[in-house]
Amino acid sequence: MIWLIGNRGMLGSEVEFLLIRQKKNYITTDMEVDITDMGQLKGFTADKPVSWIINCAAYTAVDKAEDEPALAFKINAEGPLNVAQIAIKKNAKLIHISTDYVFDGAKEGAYLETDFPNPINMYGKSKLKGEKNITETTKAYFIIRTAWLYGKNGNNFVRTMLRLFKEKSEINVVADQWGSPTYAYDLAEAIIRIIEVNPVTSGLYNFTNEGRINWHQFATEIYNLARIEGLTGRSVRLLPVETSQYPTKVKRPVNSFLSKEKILRDFDISLKPWKESLARFMSTLKLS
Ligand SMILES: NC(=O)c1ccc[n+]([C@@H]2O[C@H](COP(=O)([O-])OP(=O)(O)OC[C@H]3O[C@@H](n4cnc5c(N)ncnc54)[C@H](OP(=O)(O)O)[C@@H]3O)[C@@H](O)[C@H]2O)c1
Repeated sequence: MIWLIGNRGMLGSEVEFLLIRQKKNYITTDMEVDITDMGQLKGFTADKPVSWIINCAAYTAVDKAEDEPALAFKINAEGPLNVAQIAIKKNAKLIHISTDYVFDGAKEGAYLETDFPNPINMYGKSKLKGEKNITETTKAYFIIRTAWLYGKNGNNFVRTMLRLFKEKSEINVVADQWGSPTYAYDLAEAIIRIIEVNPVTSGLYNFTNEGRINWHQFATEIYNLARIEGLTGRSVRLLPVETSQYPTKVKRPVNSFLSKEKILRDFDISLKPWKESLARFMSTLKLS
């Protein structure tokens, strides 16, 4: 039985969609079984034959994490530790999701799984501690670092842009932070693929869509597709700006580009180009 944690979140809801479609034997929980409460986790799993755990639950408010680091660490570090301990108890394999924000962004090329992490904000620090807690607790883990996630549910850059297209005629978008967007549905497919392959090994993996872009390029494509799909009829100018012109409370890595070679090699996953996935996602918005 698969236990999906965080099924009401952006990624978790896409994973659940696939679990339903593929008629998998699964159970879900979200906030009602708090991953920071070992008693709740034990109580919930006591009578359940869990063989895989997918942890999509997290504290994801990157800016707010600077003001409430204790809560960010409780959910992103202590939570995964608890879940890993349950995984051991149930003899289950654990898939956990992490982030490009474990890196400082100073590297020139694509980040490998073996590169040294050095988070520059609280959220990244809390997620890195969560990774460490898992790798020090269980051997049967798959930690997937992803980036720039968007999907049907929850707040994300695509949704923000679509809202701003209605409100503004000019939008400043940073053009000096580089990475790859990830359609949550594509990541959900990769997660299910890992379960199907059911490898004897474990490890750390990167996953995003294919292609390296900056946020301004991402916003421009969202705008083009929004026009094509009839999601906006307004004329909006997207102005490329430097990070220094757009001060935020939290530092973000300049380079978030992750190498996907390892996951491709180990799981024979076909990576979709970011533009193709974005177009697929935006065509679903027209219908909703
Ligand atoms: N979003 C991104 O751009 C991005 C980028 C890189 C990596 N990631 C990682 O990808 C994963 C999925 O992210 P997402 O954007 O899908 O997250 P999300 O939409 O914020 O969903 C997380 C879910 O976990 C729940 N949750 C929070 N605290 C919990 C707790 N203590 N116990 C049980 N459930 C709890 C949340 O409930 P509430 O909504 O009620 O709090 C929410 O339903 C996370 O690990 C995140 O760090 C995300």
